[in-house]
Amino acid sequence: MSTTSTIAKGLDGIVAAETEMSYIDGINGILEYVGIRIGDLSSNSTFEETVFLLWNRRLPNASELSAFVNELRAAYALPEGMVERIGQLPKDALPMHVLRTLVSELALSDPNPNDNNTKAAQAKAVRILGCAPALVACFDRHRRGLEFVAPDPQRSFASNFLYMLNGSDPTETMVRAFDICMILHADHGLNNSTFAARVIISTLSDVYSALTGAIGSLRGPLHGGANEGVMHMLNEIPSVDDVESYIMGKIQRKEKIMGFGHRIYKAKDPRATDLQSLARKLAEDTGNADLYEKSSRIEQIMERELAHRGIYPNVDFYSATTYFCIGLKLDLFTPMFALSRLGGWSGHIIEQLSDNRLFRPKAQYVGPHDVPYTPMDNR
Ligand SMILES: CC(C)(COP(=O)(O)OP(=O)(O)OC[C@H]1O[C@@H](n2cnc3c(N)ncnc32)[C@H](O)[C@@H]1OP(=O)(O)O)[C@@H](O)C(=O)NCCC(=O)NCCS
Repeated sequence: MSTTSTIAKGLDGIVAAETEMSYIDGINGILEYVGIRIGDLSSNSTFEETVFLLWNRRLPNASELSAFVNELRAAYALPEGMVERIGQLPKDALPMHVLRTLVSELALSDPNPNDNNTKAAQAKAVRILGCAPALVACFDRHRRGLEFVAPDPQRSFASNFLYMLNGSDPTETMVRAFDICMILHADHGLNNSTFAARVIISTLSDVYSALTGAIGSLRGPLHGGANEGVMHMLNEIPSVDDVESYIMGKIQRKEKIMGFGHRIYKAKDPRATDLQSLARKLAEDTGNADLYEKSSRIEQIMERELAHRGIYPNVDFYSATTYFCIGLKLDLFTPMFALSRLGGWSGHIIEQLSDNRLFRPKAQYVGPHDVPYTPMDNR
Protein backbone atom coordinates (compact mmCIF):
# COMPACT_ATOMS: atom_id res chain seq x y z
CA MET A 1 0.00 0.00 0.00
CA SER A 2 2.76 2.46 0.85
CA THR A 3 6.20 2.81 -0.69
CA THR A 4 9.15 3.19 1.63
CA SER A 5 11.53 6.07 1.06
CA THR A 6 14.70 7.00 2.87
CA ILE A 7 13.95 9.33 5.74
CA ALA A 8 16.34 12.20 6.50
CA LYS A 9 15.51 12.48 10.18
CA GLY A 10 16.06 16.06 11.31
CA LEU A 11 16.61 16.81 7.58
CA ASP A 12 20.24 15.99 8.31
CA GLY A 13 22.38 16.78 5.27
CA ILE A 14 19.44 17.91 3.11
CA VAL A 15 19.99 21.06 1.03
CA ALA A 16 16.58 22.76 1.10
CA ALA A 17 17.31 26.28 -0.21
CA GLU A 18 19.88 28.46 -1.92
CA THR A 19 21.24 31.48 -0.09
CA GLU A 20 23.69 34.24 -0.86
CA MET A 21 23.89 35.34 2.77
CA SER A 22 26.14 33.06 4.79
CA TYR A 23 28.53 30.22 4.02
CA ILE A 24 29.61 27.62 6.56
CA ASP A 25 32.50 25.20 6.20
CA GLY A 26 31.86 23.00 9.21
CA ILE A 27 34.95 20.85 8.75
CA ASN A 28 37.41 23.72 8.71
CA GLY A 29 35.44 25.99 11.05
CA ILE A 30 34.80 28.81 8.56
CA LEU A 31 31.85 31.20 8.51
CA GLU A 32 31.45 33.95 5.93
CA TYR A 33 28.72 36.53 5.43
CA VAL A 34 28.47 37.23 1.68
CA GLY A 35 32.00 35.91 1.29
CA ILE A 36 33.57 37.96 4.10
CA ARG A 37 35.13 36.01 6.98
CA ILE A 38 33.23 36.47 10.24
CA GLY A 39 36.44 37.49 12.05
CA ASP A 40 36.98 40.35 9.58
CA LEU A 41 33.46 41.58 10.18
CA SER A 42 33.64 41.33 13.97
CA SER A 43 36.95 43.25 13.91
CA ASN A 44 35.96 45.96 11.46
CA SER A 45 32.23 46.22 10.95
CA THR A 46 29.15 47.26 12.93
CA PHE A 47 25.86 45.42 13.33
CA GLU A 48 24.08 47.98 11.14
CA GLU A 49 26.63 47.56 8.34
CA THR A 50 26.43 43.77 8.70
CA VAL A 51 22.64 43.82 8.29
CA PHE A 52 23.02 46.01 5.19
CA LEU A 53 25.55 43.49 3.86
CA LEU A 54 23.23 40.54 4.48
CA TRP A 55 20.21 42.23 2.93
CA ASN A 56 21.99 43.73 -0.10
CA ARG A 57 24.77 41.14 -0.60
CA ARG A 58 27.43 43.89 -0.60
CA LEU A 59 28.96 46.39 1.79
CA PRO A 60 27.43 49.87 1.71
CA ASN A 61 29.28 53.04 0.77
CA ALA A 62 29.27 55.83 3.39
CA SER A 63 26.06 57.51 2.26
CA GLU A 64 24.21 54.19 1.89
CA LEU A 65 25.25 53.18 5.38
CA SER A 66 24.22 56.51 6.83
CA ALA A 67 20.82 56.28 5.09
CA PHE A 68 20.29 52.73 6.41
CA VAL A 69 21.35 53.69 9.94
CA ASN A 70 18.91 56.62 9.88
CA GLU A 71 16.11 54.41 8.62
CA LEU A 72 16.72 51.95 11.46
CA ARG A 73 16.96 54.71 14.08
CA ALA A 74 13.68 56.19 12.84
CA ALA A 75 12.13 52.81 13.68
CA TYR A 76 13.41 52.67 17.30
CA ALA A 77 10.19 54.08 18.79
CA LEU A 78 7.46 51.71 19.95
CA PRO A 79 3.98 51.98 18.40
CA GLU A 80 1.41 53.97 20.33
CA GLY A 81 0.06 52.16 23.36
CA MET A 82 2.81 49.50 23.39
CA VAL A 83 4.51 50.76 26.56
CA GLU A 84 1.18 50.59 28.42
CA ARG A 85 0.51 47.17 26.92
CA ILE A 86 3.88 45.89 28.16
CA GLY A 87 3.04 47.38 31.56
CA GLN A 88 0.12 44.94 31.74
CA LEU A 89 2.21 41.83 31.11
CA PRO A 90 2.85 39.44 34.01
CA LYS A 91 6.20 40.33 35.57
CA ASP A 92 7.22 36.69 35.79
CA ALA A 93 6.73 36.06 32.05
CA LEU A 94 9.82 34.81 30.24
CA PRO A 95 11.39 37.45 27.97
CA MET A 96 11.49 35.09 24.96
CA HIS A 97 7.72 34.50 25.30
CA VAL A 98 7.26 38.25 25.64
CA LEU A 99 9.37 39.02 22.57
CA ARG A 100 7.56 36.38 20.50
CA THR A 101 4.16 37.70 21.55
CA LEU A 102 5.01 41.35 20.97
CA VAL A 103 6.65 40.85 17.56
CA SER A 104 3.43 39.11 16.56
CA GLU A 105 1.44 42.00 18.02
CA LEU A 106 3.36 44.57 15.93
CA ALA A 107 1.33 43.32 12.95
CA LEU A 108 -1.75 44.86 14.56
CA SER A 109 -0.34 48.38 14.25
CA ASP A 110 0.76 47.86 10.62
CA PRO A 111 -1.94 49.15 8.23
CA ASN A 112 -0.83 46.64 5.60
CA PRO A 113 0.68 43.65 7.44
CA ASN A 114 0.33 41.18 4.55
CA ASP A 115 2.20 43.15 1.89
CA ASN A 116 5.05 40.88 0.82
CA ASN A 117 6.59 42.79 -2.07
CA THR A 118 10.33 43.22 -1.57
CA LYS A 119 10.18 46.90 -0.62
CA ALA A 120 7.31 46.40 1.82
CA ALA A 121 8.86 43.28 3.36
CA GLN A 122 12.14 45.14 3.87
CA ALA A 123 10.30 48.11 5.45
CA LYS A 124 8.60 45.69 7.87
CA ALA A 125 11.96 44.11 8.67
CA VAL A 126 13.42 47.56 9.46
CA ARG A 127 10.40 48.36 11.61
CA ILE A 128 10.64 45.15 13.62
CA LEU A 129 14.44 45.16 13.95
CA GLY A 130 14.36 48.84 14.91
CA CYS A 131 11.91 48.52 17.77
CA ALA A 132 12.62 44.97 19.03
CA PRO A 133 15.33 46.22 21.45
CA ALA A 134 12.78 48.60 23.01
CA LEU A 135 10.32 45.70 23.43
CA VAL A 136 12.88 43.70 25.41
CA ALA A 137 14.22 46.66 27.42
CA CYS A 138 10.74 47.96 28.21
CA PHE A 139 9.61 44.56 29.51
CA ASP A 140 12.75 44.10 31.56
CA ARG A 141 12.30 47.50 33.21
CA HIS A 142 8.60 46.79 33.79
CA ARG A 143 9.38 43.58 35.66
CA ARG A 144 11.97 45.42 37.74
CA GLY A 145 9.38 48.09 38.59
CA LEU A 146 11.27 50.79 36.64
CA GLU A 147 10.01 53.45 34.24
CA PHE A 148 10.45 52.90 30.50
CA VAL A 149 13.49 54.68 29.04
CA ALA A 150 12.58 55.96 25.58
CA PRO A 151 14.95 55.00 22.74
CA ASP A 152 17.57 57.53 21.73
CA PRO A 153 17.80 57.86 17.92
CA GLN A 154 21.25 59.44 18.23
CA ARG A 155 22.62 56.09 19.39
CA SER A 156 23.72 52.98 17.52
CA PHE A 157 21.64 49.78 17.77
CA ALA A 158 23.96 48.38 20.45
CA SER A 159 24.32 51.60 22.46
CA ASN A 160 20.59 52.30 22.34
CA PHE A 161 19.68 48.87 23.69
CA LEU A 162 22.07 49.06 26.65
CA TYR A 163 20.97 52.65 27.34
CA MET A 164 17.28 51.69 27.38
CA LEU A 165 17.94 48.64 29.54
CA ASN A 166 20.03 50.35 32.21
CA GLY A 167 18.84 53.96 31.94
CA SER A 168 22.44 55.19 31.82
CA ASP A 169 25.24 55.73 29.33
CA PRO A 170 26.95 52.40 28.55
CA THR A 171 30.75 52.42 28.36
CA GLU A 172 32.36 52.28 24.93
CA THR A 173 33.81 48.86 25.75
CA MET A 174 30.38 47.45 26.58
CA VAL A 175 28.83 48.94 23.44
CA ARG A 176 31.56 47.49 21.24
CA ALA A 177 31.34 44.09 22.96
CA PHE A 178 27.59 44.01 22.49
CA ASP A 179 27.90 45.16 18.88
CA ILE A 180 30.36 42.32 18.19
CA CYS A 181 27.90 39.82 19.70
CA MET A 182 25.20 41.21 17.40
CA ILE A 183 27.49 40.81 14.34
CA LEU A 184 28.44 37.23 15.27
CA HIS A 185 24.86 36.03 15.77
CA ALA A 186 23.26 37.73 12.74
CA ASP A 187 23.11 34.82 10.30
CA HIS A 188 24.03 31.18 10.10
CA GLY A 189 22.82 29.29 7.05
CA LEU A 190 19.64 27.25 7.25
CA ASN A 191 19.59 26.77 11.02
CA ASN A 192 16.34 25.66 12.65
CA SER A 193 14.84 29.11 13.30
CA THR A 194 15.85 30.45 9.88
CA PHE A 195 14.32 27.38 8.28
CA ALA A 196 11.17 27.98 10.35
CA ALA A 197 11.00 31.57 9.05
CA ARG A 198 11.45 30.41 5.44
CA VAL A 199 8.88 27.62 5.83
CA ILE A 200 6.29 30.08 7.17
CA ILE A 201 6.88 32.78 4.54
CA SER A 202 6.82 30.13 1.80
CA THR A 203 3.02 29.93 2.27
CA LEU A 204 3.02 33.67 1.42
CA SER A 205 1.96 34.35 4.98
CA ASP A 206 3.55 37.58 6.30
CA VAL A 207 6.81 38.87 7.76
CA TYR A 208 5.37 39.15 11.29
CA SER A 209 4.21 35.53 11.32
CA ALA A 210 7.52 34.28 9.93
CA LEU A 211 9.57 36.18 12.53
CA THR A 212 7.24 35.13 15.34
CA GLY A 213 7.70 31.48 14.40
CA ALA A 214 11.46 31.93 14.18
CA ILE A 215 11.61 33.39 17.69
CA GLY A 216 9.63 30.41 18.96
CA SER A 217 12.12 28.04 17.37
CA LEU A 218 15.17 29.90 18.66
CA ARG A 219 14.19 29.62 22.30
CA GLY A 220 14.63 25.85 22.44
CA PRO A 221 17.59 24.58 24.51
CA LEU A 222 19.02 22.74 21.50
CA HIS A 223 19.19 26.05 19.59
CA GLY A 224 19.48 29.61 20.94
CA GLY A 225 18.39 28.63 24.44
CA ALA A 226 21.72 26.86 24.94
CA ASN A 227 23.47 30.06 26.06
CA GLU A 228 21.23 30.17 29.14
CA GLY A 229 22.05 26.51 29.74
CA VAL A 230 25.76 27.33 29.66
CA MET A 231 25.31 30.00 32.31
CA HIS A 232 23.30 27.61 34.52
CA MET A 233 26.15 25.13 34.20
CA LEU A 234 28.81 27.73 35.09
CA ASN A 235 26.75 28.77 38.11
CA GLU A 236 26.36 25.16 39.22
CA ILE A 237 30.11 24.56 39.31
CA PRO A 238 31.38 25.99 42.62
CA SER A 239 34.98 26.61 41.53
CA VAL A 240 37.57 25.92 38.83
CA ASP A 241 38.73 22.93 40.90
CA ASP A 242 35.27 21.34 40.62
CA VAL A 243 35.11 21.54 36.83
CA GLU A 244 36.82 18.20 36.18
CA SER A 245 34.45 16.12 38.34
CA TYR A 246 31.37 18.04 37.18
CA ILE A 247 32.07 17.61 33.46
CA MET A 248 33.27 14.01 33.78
CA GLY A 249 30.10 13.19 35.73
CA LYS A 250 27.97 14.60 32.93
CA ILE A 251 29.92 12.72 30.26
CA GLN A 252 29.61 9.44 32.21
CA ARG A 253 25.86 9.96 32.63
CA LYS A 254 25.71 10.69 28.87
CA GLU A 255 24.28 14.16 29.50
CA LYS A 256 24.90 16.89 26.96
CA ILE A 257 27.22 19.74 27.86
CA MET A 258 25.52 22.95 26.77
CA GLY A 259 27.50 25.13 24.37
CA PHE A 260 29.21 22.16 22.70
CA GLY A 261 28.43 20.28 19.53
CA HIS A 262 26.86 21.40 16.30
CA ARG A 263 24.99 19.79 13.44
CA ILE A 264 27.31 21.45 10.90
CA TYR A 265 30.58 22.26 12.69
CA LYS A 266 32.93 19.39 13.39
CA ALA A 267 35.63 21.91 14.37
CA LYS A 268 35.57 24.87 16.74
CA ASP A 269 32.83 27.30 15.72
CA PRO A 270 34.69 30.43 14.48
CA ARG A 271 32.21 32.59 16.39
CA ALA A 272 33.28 30.83 19.58
CA THR A 273 36.89 31.81 18.84
CA ASP A 274 35.95 35.49 18.56
CA LEU A 275 33.70 35.35 21.60
CA GLN A 276 36.39 33.62 23.62
CA SER A 277 38.76 36.61 23.34
CA LEU A 278 35.90 38.97 24.07
CA ALA A 279 34.80 36.92 27.10
CA ARG A 280 38.36 36.76 28.46
CA LYS A 281 38.83 40.54 28.26
CA LEU A 282 35.39 41.40 29.66
CA ALA A 283 35.74 38.85 32.46
CA GLU A 284 39.06 40.40 33.51
CA ASP A 285 37.67 43.96 33.27
CA THR A 286 34.55 43.18 35.28
CA GLY A 287 36.05 41.03 38.04
CA ASN A 288 34.60 37.78 36.65
CA ALA A 289 37.89 36.07 35.79
CA ASP A 290 36.70 32.88 37.53
CA LEU A 291 33.87 32.49 35.01
CA TYR A 292 36.30 32.63 32.14
CA GLU A 293 38.67 30.22 33.90
CA LYS A 294 35.85 27.72 34.47
CA SER A 295 34.87 27.98 30.79
CA SER A 296 38.41 27.54 29.63
CA ARG A 297 38.84 24.47 31.87
CA ILE A 298 35.59 22.98 30.51
CA GLU A 299 36.88 23.49 26.98
CA GLN A 300 40.16 21.69 27.82
CA ILE A 301 38.34 18.70 29.29
CA MET A 302 35.91 18.53 26.38
CA GLU A 303 38.84 18.70 23.96
CA ARG A 304 40.46 15.74 25.73
CA GLU A 305 37.23 13.70 25.99
CA LEU A 306 35.01 14.51 23.01
CA ALA A 307 36.93 16.39 20.31
CA HIS A 308 37.66 13.09 18.55
CA ARG A 309 33.88 12.87 17.99
CA GLY A 310 33.77 16.35 16.45
CA ILE A 311 32.26 17.98 19.55
CA TYR A 312 33.71 21.48 20.01
CA PRO A 313 32.51 24.76 21.55
CA ASN A 314 29.74 26.46 19.60
CA VAL A 315 28.63 30.11 19.55
CA ASP A 316 26.71 29.77 22.81
CA PHE A 317 29.61 28.64 24.95
CA TYR A 318 31.52 31.91 25.32
CA SER A 319 28.55 34.18 24.58
CA ALA A 320 27.21 33.21 28.02
CA THR A 321 30.23 34.70 29.85
CA THR A 322 30.22 37.68 27.49
CA TYR A 323 26.56 38.53 28.15
CA PHE A 324 26.98 37.98 31.87
CA CYS A 325 29.91 40.41 31.96
CA ILE A 326 27.92 42.97 29.97
CA GLY A 327 25.51 42.81 32.91
CA LEU A 328 22.60 41.02 31.25
CA LYS A 329 20.28 38.84 33.28
CA LEU A 330 20.32 35.19 32.39
CA ASP A 331 16.91 35.08 30.75
CA LEU A 332 17.92 37.96 28.45
CA PHE A 333 20.69 35.92 26.81
CA THR A 334 18.46 34.23 24.25
CA PRO A 335 16.53 37.43 23.49
CA MET A 336 19.92 39.01 22.64
CA PHE A 337 20.50 36.23 20.14
CA ALA A 338 17.03 36.94 18.73
CA LEU A 339 17.65 40.71 18.42
CA SER A 340 20.66 39.99 16.25
CA ARG A 341 19.16 37.10 14.30
CA LEU A 342 16.14 39.23 13.34
CA GLY A 343 18.58 40.68 10.80
CA GLY A 344 19.40 37.27 9.34
CA TRP A 345 15.84 35.93 9.48
CA SER A 346 14.52 39.00 7.65
CA GLY A 347 17.14 38.62 4.92
CA HIS A 348 16.13 34.99 4.47
CA ILE A 349 12.44 35.88 4.33
CA ILE A 350 13.13 38.35 1.53
CA GLU A 351 15.40 35.83 -0.22
CA GLN A 352 12.67 33.16 0.03
CA LEU A 353 10.01 35.52 -1.33
CA SER A 354 12.20 36.42 -4.30
CA ASP A 355 12.21 32.81 -5.55
CA ASN A 356 9.47 31.13 -3.60
CA ARG A 357 8.41 27.53 -3.64
CA LEU A 358 6.10 26.24 -0.91
CA PHE A 359 7.93 23.97 1.54
CA ARG A 360 5.98 20.76 1.69
CA PRO A 361 7.98 17.63 2.50
CA LYS A 362 6.37 14.24 2.94
CA ALA A 363 6.04 12.00 5.98
CA GLN A 364 6.38 8.23 5.84
CA TYR A 365 3.13 6.86 7.28
CA VAL A 366 3.98 4.00 9.65
CA GLY A 367 0.57 3.39 11.23
CA PRO A 368 -2.04 0.68 10.50
CA HIS A 369 -4.42 0.56 7.50
CA ASP A 370 -8.03 -0.56 6.96
CA VAL A 371 -8.93 -0.27 10.64
CA PRO A 372 -12.69 -0.68 11.17
CA TYR A 373 -14.38 2.26 12.90
CA THR A 374 -15.34 1.21 16.45
CA PRO A 375 -18.56 2.77 17.74
CA MET A 376 -18.15 4.70 21.00
CA ASP A 377 -20.02 2.11 23.13
CA ASN A 378 -17.68 -0.68 22.04
CA ARG A 379 -14.36 1.07 22.87
C1 LIG B 1 23.63 21.18 18.73
C2 LIG B 1 23.23 19.72 18.77
C3 LIG B 1 21.71 19.63 18.95
C4 LIG B 1 23.64 19.10 17.42
O1 LIG B 1 23.27 17.84 17.51
P1 LIG B 1 23.10 16.71 16.42
O2 LIG B 1 23.82 16.99 15.17
O3 LIG B 1 21.65 16.45 16.30
O4 LIG B 1 23.85 15.57 17.17
P2 LIG B 1 23.27 14.67 18.32
O5 LIG B 1 22.51 15.46 19.33
O6 LIG B 1 22.53 13.55 17.66
O7 LIG B 1 24.60 14.14 18.99
C5 LIG B 1 25.43 13.16 18.36
C6 LIG B 1 26.25 12.48 19.45
O8 LIG B 1 27.11 13.44 20.06
C7 LIG B 1 26.80 13.60 21.42
N1 LIG B 1 26.79 15.04 21.72
C8 LIG B 1 26.39 16.04 20.91
N2 LIG B 1 26.51 17.21 21.55
C9 LIG B 1 26.98 16.93 22.77
C10 LIG B 1 27.29 17.75 23.88
N3 LIG B 1 27.09 19.06 23.85
N4 LIG B 1 27.75 17.16 24.98
C11 LIG B 1 27.95 15.82 25.04
N5 LIG B 1 27.66 15.00 24.01
C12 LIG B 1 27.18 15.56 22.89
C13 LIG B 1 25.39 13.07 21.59
O9 LIG B 1 25.13 12.64 22.90
C14 LIG B 1 25.38 11.95 20.59
O10 LIG B 1 26.05 10.86 21.18
P3 LIG B 1 25.59 9.35 20.85
O11 LIG B 1 25.85 9.17 19.38
O12 LIG B 1 26.49 8.54 21.74
O13 LIG B 1 24.13 9.25 21.20
C15 LIG B 1 23.97 18.98 19.92
O14 LIG B 1 25.36 19.04 19.74
C16 LIG B 1 23.59 19.54 21.29
O15 LIG B 1 22.52 19.20 21.81
N6 LIG B 1 24.43 20.42 21.87
C17 LIG B 1 24.13 21.02 23.15
C18 LIG B 1 23.17 22.18 22.95
C19 LIG B 1 23.82 23.36 22.28
O16 LIG B 1 24.88 23.81 22.69
N7 LIG B 1 23.12 23.92 21.28
C20 LIG B 1 23.56 25.11 20.59
C21 LIG B 1 23.87 24.82 19.16
S1 LIG B 1 24.56 26.26 18.38
